[in-house]
Amino acid sequence: MLCRWWIFLTCFSASLSVAATECCGKGAQNKRARAPRATSRDQNLRDARLLAIQKVILKQLGYRRPPNVTRSQVTEAEKKKMLRLYEMSVEETSESRESVEQEELATAKTFHSFPATGGPPVQVSTEDWEDGLHKVRLYFQLDFPQTHHRHRHRRVANAKLKLYKSEIFPENLLRSTDGLVTLSFYQLLEPPRTGKTTLKRLIESRTTSVLQTGWEKVDVTAAVQSWMTSPEKNYGIEVVCEHEPLDDVMTFYGTDRDSDVRRPAETDDPDVLAPRLIVLTQEVKSSQREKRSYEPEDCQVDDGETRCCRYPLYVNFTEIGWGDWIVAPEGFNVFYCNGTCPYRYKSANEHSLIKSTLHHLNPDSPQPCCVAKRLSPLSVLNYDDSDPPQLIVTPLNNIVVDQCACT
Ligand SMILES: *[C@@H]1O[C@H](CO)[C@@H](O)[C@H](O)[C@H]1NC(C)=O
Ligand SMILES: *[C@@H]1O[C@H](CO)[C@@H](O)[C@H](O)[C@H]1NC(C)=O
Ligand SMILES: *[C@@H]1O[C@H](CO)[C@@H](O)[C@H](O)[C@H]1NC(C)=O
Repeated sequence: MLCRWWIFLTCFSASLSVAATECCGKGAQNKRARAPRATSRDQNLRDARLLAIQKVILKQLGYRRPPNVTRSQVTEAEKKKMLRLYEMSVEETSESRESVEQEELATAKTFHSFPATGGPPVQVSTEDWEDGLHKVRLYFQLDFPQTHHRHRHRRVANAKLKLYKSEIFPENLLRSTDGLVTLSFYQLLEPPRTGKTTLKRLIESRTTSVLQTGWEKVDVTAAVQSWMTSPEKNYGIEVVCEHEPLDDVMTFYGTDRDSDVRRPAETDDPDVLAPRLIVLTQEVKSSQREKRSYEPEDCQVDDGETRCCRYPLYVNFTEIGWGDWIVAPEGFNVFYCNGTCPYRYKSANEHSLIKSTLHHLNPDSPQPCCVAKRLSPLSVLNYDDSDPPQLIVTPLNNIVVDQCACT
């Protein structure tokens, strides 16, 4: 299904995005430029866009020109019957559209990886944060990319804290001669203050051998879920090791501060071994979506938004002179995509994200384009081009822009 859209998209954008000359070209990155008020240029663009839509619709119907309905002999009763058929078709279209959305939702899982910030959250001073040899606090700022669907929200499916055990030689151990230590992981429930006990929740306590290097992975799903609902209560995680100085047994800062600590040979990048939070999220539908209405995430031409966005464009069949042969609907919102694609903005998929990152690193490579990510069909009740013209219900495929994204 999606595939078909994508194939269509190419010609659709070619014919509809008359404004897309700025897109993907160089020198169109005047991000700060205010969008001008409706000028004659915008008016021309709008007219051209409407004309392009007309051409696409005629092409789909297979008509060379709009049918001439003067010779039509359709009775009022027939017209009524066809209107009922049309309404059924509209309903079916929206149902199939919804099932596609559901299908997409089921697969919308994403991995995120966050490094420890190396310092405390803003509410906590560094002195209050650092607390002895046997305790290390880790703070992860959860910077999820923006979700672009107002009716979906992000849910944490799973979260793991990964810590790397450094290599330590038995002769360097202070107390645990057998190499076994107990590690305890806590979720901090309030900002730590020196000299005061901090409210915290035990996540897990485990015994592990520090004589073997490797990753310790701790399930911190519940903590991350709570940070997701109340980000202001994210005070970090505390790791406690009673037996040995934590800095000796774990890799915390990504750099070797201690000569006893050796990295495995396979990696040259010390950051690779720094603590990380790996989060698997899922986008879920949060409410019933109203069909094809304006959405707050849509933009208006003069609202100052210059980044990729969906804009409404109402096609009034009477206004474009098609009122006589298209009986229903009166018109429809076709929407169009416009705007720039700054780094990581509204990436349609992983490939687009790579393209965006590549452009960020090397401006010679093309920037992503703001184009329709998903299109939906439109049913119309129209007279056909037979003689005399007959009323038919026609599903026009991939006409309405549901979503814009950078790709
Ligand atoms: C439509 O058909 C009628 C009668 O056949 C004709 O008189 C009229 O000029 C036609 N209109 C157009 C726009 O072609
Ligand atoms: C469409 O345009 C006609 C003629 O300008 C107008 O009478 C009608 O109200 C418009 N319909 C809508 C839904 O905007
Ligand atoms: C498209 O967006 C650019 C800025 O990104 C703006 O200058 C232009 O007016 C917009 N065009 C339309 C038709 O919305």
